[in-house]
Parts: sequence; structure tokens; C-alpha cells
Amino acid sequence: MNVIADMVSSIIIEDETVVTKPDELVIVGRGRSAVVFKLPHEDKVLKVFYPAYTHLAAQEASIYHELHNATYYPTLYEVGAGYLVLEYLEGMTLYDCLRQGKIITEEIIKQVDQALDYARQKDLNPSDTHLQNVMLLWNGEVRVIDVVRFRQSTICSHWEDLKSAYYVYYQHSYFPKKYPRWVIETIIRLYRHGFIRIKKRK
Ligand SMILES: Nc1ncnc2c1ncn2[C@@H]1O[C@H](COP(=O)(O)OP(=O)(O)O)[C@@H](O)[C@H]1O
Ligand SMILES: [Mg+2]
Repeated sequence: MNVIADMVSSIIIEDETVVTKPDELVIVGRGRSAVVFKLPHEDKVLKVFYPAYTHLAAQEASIYHELHNATYYPTLYEVGAGYLVLEYLEGMTLYDCLRQGKIITEEIIKQVDQALDYARQKDLNPSDTHLQNVMLLWNGEVRVIDVVRFRQSTICSHWEDLKSAYYVYYQHSYFPKKYPRWVIETIIRLYRHGFIRIKKRK
């Protein structure tokens, strides 16, 4: 067994709770299908899928292979049973930007558009691109993560809706740039349940 596979086998996850993990692994993020750990002494993370989603590891890896491009997406180093090893992105998600009041510039929005256009050129269908799946690096570059749904056939409007909200609301000087978590979570929940219709840009 290789070192990473060994490490993964010592992680116990029940539903979405990490019950046991090696001390040297630090959790840097969580999503709806996986938990992400920083690997010690190297610029890599280990994305371990929750037990119900282990099949997604191979799917996401095959999409990362197609997207292989150092500019817009993290590099994939390894794939195994229920896990991926990816380039560690030093920065924050757009969700964190809203929580901490870090200004989201139009340049960031344009970089995400370029990333998604690149995926379309590869005949993929960028989907599920939301606040927690876009990372702003300390050097100002942008990376799109969590590409597992890029092969779905249905159209996902998350990014177009976020972009409309950005131009219609966020860009105005009176619009607050910093929010407590509960406010962002409430807005996301209302959006997901269809209670918020985003005004389209003219
Ligand atoms: N390569 C990475 N470098 C740093 N943090 C990451 C990386 N990949 C994911 N994360 C963090 O982990 C969170 C969950 O990862 P993600 O791939 O979106 O999982 P899920 O598929 O469960 O949504 C992200 O929102 C982000 O905060
Ligand atoms: Mg995610």
C-alpha cells in the first residue's frame, strides 16, 4: 500500500463526521461530499469523500485529467479509492471573502468566467460553481475547484446567478461587503429552495 492509501485507511468518517484521523492531517475545508485535509510538509491536500460518495473520486479525477491546466484548476497528483491528492491552494474561498469583507473585484469574476470557458472548450458543462467552489489565491489569481459535476447534462445556473447578483447588487457602493455566516447561509438556503429570484443584468 502506498503512503497516502495507508493514511486514508487510518481515517474513519461516519456519515459526514471525521471520527479518527492522523494528528498530522489538518482539516482545511469541508463540502457536501468530502472533507479536505492539508498534507504535512508539502503543498498538497487530501480530499477524502464521505462513505456515501466514494464513487465520486474517480469521476472527479477523470474531469481533472481533462482540465489539466495549471492556470485555472488545481493540479491533480493522485487518485485512489475514495480520495484525491490535489495541489494545495493557499488563499480563501469567495464565501470566506464575503465573511471577512475582502472585496471581490470584477477581475476575479472575469477570471472565473475564463476558467469556465476553458472547461467548455474541453466539451465539459461547468456546474455547481458557487461561493465555496471558487478560491482566491494570495497572489490574486483564481482557481475553480470541485469539478465533479462538470459532466452533468442539465444546465446549472449557480454561477450565472452569482454573477448577476454581483453586478446588480454587490457592485453598488451602498451594498455591504461583509456578512455574518448566518446571513450568507440563510440567503443560500432561500436561493436553493427557489425563494430568491436573481434579477438578470440588463
Ligand atoms: N486544493 C485545495 N486547496 C485548499 N483548500 C481546498 C482545496 N480543495 C478544497 N478546499 C477546501 O475544502 C472545501 C471542500 O472542498 P470541495 O472540493 O468543494 O468538496 P465538496 O465536493 O464536498 O464540495 C472547499 O470549499 C475549500 O474550502
Ligand atoms: Mg464544494
